[in-house]
Order: sequence, then C-alpha cells, then structure tokens
Amino acid sequence: MCGIVGYSGARDAASVLLEGLRALEYRGYDSAGVSVFTGGSLQTVKSAGRLDALAGRLDAHPLAGHCGIGHTRWATHGAPSDANAHPHGTARLSLVHNGIIENYAQLKEELAGLGYSFETQTDTEVAAKTLDSCYHGDPIAAIREACAKMEGSYAFGIVFADRPGEVYGTRFNSPLLAAAGDGEGFLASDLSAVLPYTKQYFPLEHGEIVTIRPDGSLHVCTMDGTPVHRPLQTAQWDVEQAQKNGYDHFMRKEIFEQPEALYRTVQPRIANGLPDFSRDGIRPGLFQAVSRIQIVACGTASYAGWVGKHVIETLARVPVQVDIASEFRYANPILDPESLVIVISQSGETADTLAALRLAKSRGIQTLAIVNVPGSTIAREADLVLYTYAGPEIAVASTKAYSVQTGVLYLLAIQIALEKGRISAGQAQESVNGLLDAIDKTHEALKTDPLTKEVAAFLKDKEDLFFIGRGADFPLCREGSLKLKEISYLHSEAYEAGELKHGTISLITDGVPVIAVATQSALLAKTISNIKETRARGAKVLLFCQQDAPIGSDVCDRIIRLPKTDDLFAPIPAVIPLQLMAYHTAVARGCDVDKPRNLAKSVTVE
Ligand code: G6P
Repeated sequence: MCGIVGYSGARDAASVLLEGLRALEYRGYDSAGVSVFTGGSLQTVKSAGRLDALAGRLDAHPLAGHCGIGHTRWATHGAPSDANAHPHGTARLSLVHNGIIENYAQLKEELAGLGYSFETQTDTEVAAKTLDSCYHGDPIAAIREACAKMEGSYAFGIVFADRPGEVYGTRFNSPLLAAAGDGEGFLASDLSAVLPYTKQYFPLEHGEIVTIRPDGSLHVCTMDGTPVHRPLQTAQWDVEQAQKNGYDHFMRKEIFEQPEALYRTVQPRIANGLPDFSRDGIRPGLFQAVSRIQIVACGTASYAGWVGKHVIETLARVPVQVDIASEFRYANPILDPESLVIVISQSGETADTLAALRLAKSRGIQTLAIVNVPGSTIAREADLVLYTYAGPEIAVASTKAYSVQTGVLYLLAIQIALEKGRISAGQAQESVNGLLDAIDKTHEALKTDPLTKEVAAFLKDKEDLFFIGRGADFPLCREGSLKLKEISYLHSEAYEAGELKHGTISLITDGVPVIAVATQSALLAKTISNIKETRARGAKVLLFCQQDAPIGSDVCDRIIRLPKTDDLFAPIPAVIPLQLMAYHTAVARGCDVDKPRNLAKSVTVE
C-alpha cells in the first residue's frame, strides 16, 4: 500500500526513482511524486493519476540531480489529487509516507497554533510539518522528536534541503528497507524497486533510522542515535521474476507460473515420500499436542485458509476455525494453550494479519506464518515460518501466492495427521503422492485457457452472476468470485450450493449466469440438484467438474472438465480455470487487469 523509493549515488536520481516507482506501482497508483536535489535546491514534481502522468511532467520539467525520494500513493486521507500526492513538506524538507498517522488531527491543531498552515487533507502533510517543527539542524534528533509525537503506522523517506545528497528513512509497523549498490544507496518499501540495481539489502527494524550518504554508504542508528550494525542480505528474487517477460499482464504470467511455484514450494519439503519441515526449523512431533487450529488471514489468503481447514479436518480430524484478521483482532478470540494460530499472508505486511499474529503471541499461543515475502514483518515475528516460494507477485489480484499457500497447507495437514496418529506412514505417502499428482495436473488445467476465454465472451456483458459449490468447492467458489469482482468489476456472489434456495435464488432470473464448481464426487449429485433448481428459473449454468464426472446432457449449458485428481486435492488444479475466466472477462471488459480500481496489493493500514 503506497510505494517509497529513495536514492543517493551517481545516477540520474529522477530516472532511478521513476523506475523504482514503476516496480512499486502495484502498491498504489492513484498519484505519485518525487523530490530531487537539483541546481542547489530541493524541488518537487507531483501528479494525480498513474505514473505516466508524473513521467510526462518530469519530461516537461526535468529534475537533474543525484539524490531524491519518490512515492506512489493509494489514498487514505484525502482524494487522489496533485496536491494530496506525496512528497509533502516545507521549504526545509520533503517527506514521503506509507501508513496512517492516527493522531494527525490533534497534531494539526498544535501545528496551527505554531503558525503552520495546510494545503491538503492528508495526514502526511501533518507528519512533514511536525518534522519541520522539530528540525533545528540535526536530522536524527528531529526524526526522534517527531516520531515520538506520532501515533499510528509509518515508513518515511525524508530529505532535508540543507543536507544535499542525504536520504533518511525510518519506520514503525510499515515496511522499509535499505539497499547498497556500488557507490550508491537506496531506500524502498519493497525489494522489487531496487532489484534492477542491486540484490544487497537489509530490512529496517521498527524505530531504526537509516541515513544514506552522498557516497551511497548506509548508516543505521536507533532513535536515540546509537549506531546499529545491519549486515547486508542477498535477495533471492531476480529482476526477471518481477517483469512481464512477454506476457500481456502480470496476472496472466503469474497464473502460468503456478505449476513451477508449487513444485518449488512443496518439493523441498518432502523426504522419503513424507512431509519434512526440518529445513524450516520445525522439529517432528511439534504438532502432536495441537488440539485446535485457528487460521487468520485477509482476502485471497483467507480462502486458501478455508481450503486448509477442509484438508486438515479431513485428514487430521483437528478442528480448524478460519477468521478474517480484521474481525479476529477485535473479537477477543477464545484461544486455549494447545491451539496453533496459523497466519497466512503473501506480503507478510498486511496490518490486520500482523495485529492478529501479535494478539495470538501476546496470549502465549504458538504461531506459524505462511508467508511469501522473505524478511517481511509477519515472517520475522511469527514463532515458526513456512515460506512459500512463489517469487514476487506483482498483479494486485493474487493467484500464484494463493496456490502455494494451499500447497503448504496440504503438506501441513498430512504432517499433522501423521503426528496425531490419524493416518499411517503409508497413507501419508499416498497423500503426498496425491498432492504431487494434483500439482502435475495444474499443467493440464492451464490448457482450459481458450475455453475460459469463450466463457468470458459470454460473461462480459452480464451484470450479476453467482457461484455455487459444496464442501471443498465452496472456498473455490469464493475465490473465483473474488477474482472476478476484483478485476472485471462484475457483481458476483458465492453461495454454498444448498443454501441458495434460502433466499438468494430469488435473484435467479432468465439468463443469469450461475457458475457451479463440483469436483467432489460424493457431493456431485447434490450439486446437480441445485444446478437444476437454478436452470428451472432460467439460469445459464457453466459447470466445472472432474474429467470423469457422469454429467447428463441436460444438466448445464456449458461444461469445463478438469484433469482427474483425487477429490481431496482437486482444489489445486481447479482454481486455475476460475482465475483464467476472471482474467479473460476483465480483458474483454477493457479493465486494467493488473491495477484494478481502488485496490492495493499490500494493505498496511487497518
Ligand atoms: C489485498 C490484496 C489481496 C490479498 C490481501 C491479503 O487485499 O489485494 O490480493 O489477498 O490483501 O494480502 P496478503 O499479502 O496478506 O496475502
């Protein structure tokens, strides 16, 4: 949510900032801006709209210089506009901000008392002017004093007009990293901004301040000025992974990367045909005493959690509750000491998921995080971490991250079942084989691409549609429905197939599309009955089912058959045509697939 870049070195700063912001645009794209030291002064150019609008302004008013900060915004306080775009500042400093300053109204009043006036509705202008009021020539002291006044979450990139060539950064509950090139230093909210230049970086801890000097050297200290040594880490992600590589959209590329991402995530965690989490630092037997599991996540990650619930309860017979993090954190949840709390997050930075993790930890409950971004806050704070190896996911709508999250949950379910004695080693091996077979079948599932494109041509002019499914198919329906809503802006709802008749069937009229997902053979006949109920009221039904499902010619209007897998593992290939269908529908409707309106990739505010 919002992207920060800072640079000091020998290159043209505005170009580096712009390129960095392009890599971060998925974090926010309603306005952008840069401040650069140029011709002996600090100058700022900003623009509402996508980055191209800012690039156009920079073409008209080039900012030649070698040091500066930049920002791409996802609006929280104040509409997207030139004025509300970051950087904000005064004649003495310029500041970019991710997060929310919760006490900004009170600070604004205090600053007004000191004679400050305000041109925007943003909390960031208040942060910049708070910092200005604290600045008497010592940047570290000013940052310390200003941060002590601010409540909320923040990552700041700052330049002071009287410190040319220096970039300052600090953070609290919002991610920020510093990276080192040869004679150049970078500040960024996320690795993808610096990957074209360097892989050497370190994440900043809460309350630390980094100074990037004109020679590009990085200096870290605590708020009170005590120097801290932060060793550089080498990023495991490549710049190519964060590029489109010939695909029209990142989303399409990421859908097609799923088989590879699944192998990369699952295979290293199998030894002798059984799950093996030793390289994750999880000792065998750790799950033996777990009596309940609480999964907490947001958005797509929560739907992976629902698939996890199905498979853990089926195999391990351990009760699993899935909660949305923003609800869980304020629900005073009942957690007994033998619970395991699993948080799932692609970014590892989602504010509500992080708060849920901290809540569980504060109650002394063991926590396990399933996270994609290395070194992210959730990964660092959880007791146990299972990284997914999807590589960078750039499209706002999550696809490959979801698949690898489910892959890990399947393995975890098998391990828990084994440790609790619910299945034998032989049965566990069979399950692992079932999982690997389902991953193999994702290649075939991708071949539904042309069929889903045909379906999209039918869906694109509709206004409302419904997904129905039972059991393991229901989370798939919710995920398929979410994908469609997010990127094609079609109104869609997902229902438990048997529940539709308890109200929502009143919305089924002539020609309304109903998408039925029926991969579970034991529930197939039941779902078919529900399909018939909708067809009797004029619905146009598209059915996704397994290759060998016995479906009469009168059951549906269109059928997409999925490669045959064991029912338990069917959700792995089955999500792919749903993603493709959403993708093609969004393209057919002329939507901006990778940057859907109003959304952000990483939601670091509650
Ligand atoms: C945002 C994204 C979703 C994502 C959710 C959770 O809403 O747009 O795609 O599923 O956040 O993100 P996380 O990084 O915690 O998985």
